[in-house]
Amino acid sequence: MTFKQDFLWGGATAANQLEGAFDVAGKGLSVADAMPGGKSRMQILGSDTFDWSIDADKYVYPNHKGIDHYHRFKEDIALFAEMGFKCYRFSIAWSRIFPMGDETKANEAGLAFYEQVIDECLKYGIEPVITISHYEMPLNLAKAYGGWKNREIVGFYENFAKAVLTRFHTKVKYWMTFNEINSAIALPALSQGMVATTGGEQQQNIFQAWHHQFVASSLAVKIGHELNPDLQIGCMIIYATTYSYDSNPVNQVATMLQNQAFNYFCADVQVRGEYPAYTQKLFKEKGVSPLAIEDGDLALLKAYPVDYVGFSYYMSAVQNVTDKDADTVDGNILGGVKNPFLEASDWGWQIDPTGLRIALNDLHGRYQVPLFIVENGLGAYDKVEADGTINDDYRIDYLAKHIQAMSDAVEDGVELMGYTPWGCIDLVSASTGEMSKRYGFIYVDLDDNIEGTGNRSKKKSFEWYKKVIATKGEDL
Ligand code: BG6
Repeated sequence: MTFKQDFLWGGATAANQLEGAFDVAGKGLSVADAMPGGKSRMQILGSDTFDWSIDADKYVYPNHKGIDHYHRFKEDIALFAEMGFKCYRFSIAWSRIFPMGDETKANEAGLAFYEQVIDECLKYGIEPVITISHYEMPLNLAKAYGGWKNREIVGFYENFAKAVLTRFHTKVKYWMTFNEINSAIALPALSQGMVATTGGEQQQNIFQAWHHQFVASSLAVKIGHELNPDLQIGCMIIYATTYSYDSNPVNQVATMLQNQAFNYFCADVQVRGEYPAYTQKLFKEKGVSPLAIEDGDLALLKAYPVDYVGFSYYMSAVQNVTDKDADTVDGNILGGVKNPFLEASDWGWQIDPTGLRIALNDLHGRYQVPLFIVENGLGAYDKVEADGTINDDYRIDYLAKHIQAMSDAVEDGVELMGYTPWGCIDLVSASTGEMSKRYGFIYVDLDDNIEGTGNRSKKKSFEWYKKVIATKGEDL
């Protein structure tokens, strides 16, 4: 048996992408509520004029309704239990707890909702795994405060983290402070609540915002461990195994620098509790001046590092600085050069299970702390047959190969806590706002305009994943 007895098999979601009920029970607007649906979502957010205005005449806002998990969570969690989930990763919508973000008193209706979700998981013996902040800061903090580049946000996040950790620390052991914190390099809107009109495209602001997030993350670890030293509080990064285009040492160096700038920088600070040795060089390259760091910040980072590294893994990337004519491939933030040895998804994400084994060995070798794969999966168009079945063999194939790579890495000696494939139930895509980019074992009958019955049905992968969990990853 490769995977340990208490391995956390499960699935992952984020509040803004499935709950809907965006204005129910005192919830305020979040940045995700201001993101239009459709393939041009990232272009709109990245434009010079985007200022977080919501224009319902011009755009569809799929996150407003999501898959209505807010009202159907019992049905959804029952299906997770049927698959045999040992854990369920979800996030808490900050704007349900602090609707404007800057209040001092938490919204009891928001806390009560998550208490019900947690209790429903525990009823089935499913361990909740909570992301405190997953691309959904209160819109007011982005609009009126300019997002994470503003130091005041640290105190607001501290209030939020304190409210949820205090309320749930006896029921929830596993936490993560920020989703894909390093994605800000390409997605400052989602990750840091910053857009061009509030300086979001400036590297100086992105790095300053990161410093604030690092401090906030350490404060959450401090609060959590003071409440209960057994809590496991992790960071969460997006990791893309990065290959050199060829054996030209120039491309090898470019790969090394890209790893530092993208895969390592945030986790280096959050795991080791200090800025890495290459920080000054990185700042120089990016044109970043010394950051505003307050007294006590660095000591706090050192005293309260994270307990484990959570990461998402979808694809690998290729680093090339020598061949201007190299073929390229689309893909959300990692696009770039085409790898002739790999296939790509319908959205251009290059599929690379072997890259996951490399990722696991790399991260474990670098940090020597337990790892948790908290996102992985294939976004694909699914077809409902006339008899209602959905034969998603392509998804089974993707996941089986990635689980095999995990197994190989565990045999290599990597300490792996668990595996939560992304979007275990179909939900709204983060990068495109589409429903038709589906990841789930459970199909949800809704289109890109969030029209349809909303009914849930089991895909072929549902029974397959159930068998994988039952056999502890032995029968793929
Ligand atoms: C990760 C995010 O980047 O990838 C999720 O943490 C997201 O929020 C997932 O949904 C898949 O990306 P997408 O754009 O296909 O939804």
